[in-house]
Amino acid sequence: MRDLPQNSDLLEWYDHNARKMPWRISPADRKAGVRPDPYRVWMSEIMLQQTTVAAVKDYFLRFTERWPSVTDLAAAQDADVMAEWAGLGYYARARNLLKCARVVTDDLNGVFPGTVEELLKLPGVGPYTAAAVASIAFDEPATVVDGNVERVMARLFDVHTPLPTAKPELTDLAESLTPQERPGDYAQAVMDLGATICSPRNPACGLCPWRTPCQARLAGTAVDLPKKIKKKPKPIRHGVVYLARRVDGAMLLERRPDTGLLGGMLGWPGSDWQENDAPVHDAPIKAEWKTLNTEARHTFTHFHLRLKICTALVPMDRTPTVGSFVEAEDFDPGDLPTAMRKAYDLYRGT
Ligand code: ADE
Repeated sequence: MRDLPQNSDLLEWYDHNARKMPWRISPADRKAGVRPDPYRVWMSEIMLQQTTVAAVKDYFLRFTERWPSVTDLAAAQDADVMAEWAGLGYYARARNLLKCARVVTDDLNGVFPGTVEELLKLPGVGPYTAAAVASIAFDEPATVVDGNVERVMARLFDVHTPLPTAKPELTDLAESLTPQERPGDYAQAVMDLGATICSPRNPACGLCPWRTPCQARLAGTAVDLPKKIKKKPKPIRHGVVYLARRVDGAMLLERRPDTGLLGGMLGWPGSDWQENDAPVHDAPIKAEWKTLNTEARHTFTHFHLRLKICTALVPMDRTPTVGSFVEAEDFDPGDLPTAMRKAYDLYRGT
C-alpha cells in the first residue's frame, strides 16, 4: 500500500507556488487570516467557468474597476454589463451575474451567503460555483471539482474509467481528501497543481508535491489519464447576417432575445442557423445588398458556425423591419459577441 496523499504537502507547495491572480489575496494576508472578498471570488468563478485564467484576467479587472461592489453591479444597466462581457462567451453567465447581483443586493442586504446550501439558491450558481465561493471566500470545507481537479484525482488514484462516466468517482475521491483546515487554499491548490504541474500532456511529475503517493506515476499511466469517451465531431451550421451601414455611418443592430445562443447580446440582423445550407431570409431593410465572398467562421461548444455576410449602404430615409440604427459614435465592435465581431471585421476589410 502506498502513502496516502497528504494535504500538508500540497498546502506547503501552494504556499510557495500559488499563481498570482487579481482576485486572490497575498500569501502574507492569507497567513494573517484575511479572507478574500466574496464578491470578487464569486465574479472570478463565474467568469472562469469554461474559460481560462488568462482570458478572464482583463475582464475581471475591468468589471471590478467599473463595479467595485455587488451593489454597484446590481445598479448597472443590462446593456452595459452585456457589452463589457462581450467576447467572453457563454452569455447566459452575464445575464445571471446581473440577476444574482440584484438578488444579493435587494434580498440579502448586499451580503453573499457563506454556505453551499444558500449559495445554490442564487441565480447562475451551480454546485461548482457554490463550492468554490464557500471554500475560497468562507473557508467552508466544500469540494471544488473542475477539469483540473478531475485530472489530478484520476492520476493520483490511477482511475481508468473514462470521463464523463468517471465524474462521480472522481468527485468522491476529491471529497475524501478535502481537509477541515484551510479548505479554500486546498481547493485552489489542487486547481493550480492541475493547471501547472499535473498538466494534460507534459506533467512535471518530478516537481509534484504528491509524486510519492501518485498511483499513475507508479504505473506509468499519468499521460494517458483521465481517459475520455470520444466526442462526436461537431456539425456545421450556416446562417446569414446583414450588415447595413447608413450613409451617415450608423450601423443597423438588433438585440438578440434573452434565451438561446448569444442571448441578450447585440448582433447583426439575420437568419436562424441551420445545418445544410443557410436558410433563405429576408433582408432587414430595403437596399442594394451585396454578398461578401468570405464567410465568418466561429466555433461554439456544440457546433461550428459559418455566416454568410450581406452588406449594404443605406440612404437616410429608409426604416428597418427589425433592429435599430446605432449612431457611428455609439457603435463599438468590442460590444459584439465574437461571432458577430468576426463578421464585422471581414466587412471592414472589404
Ligand atoms: N479555476 C477556477 N477557479 C480557480 C481558482 N480560484 N484558482 C485556480 N484555478 C481556478
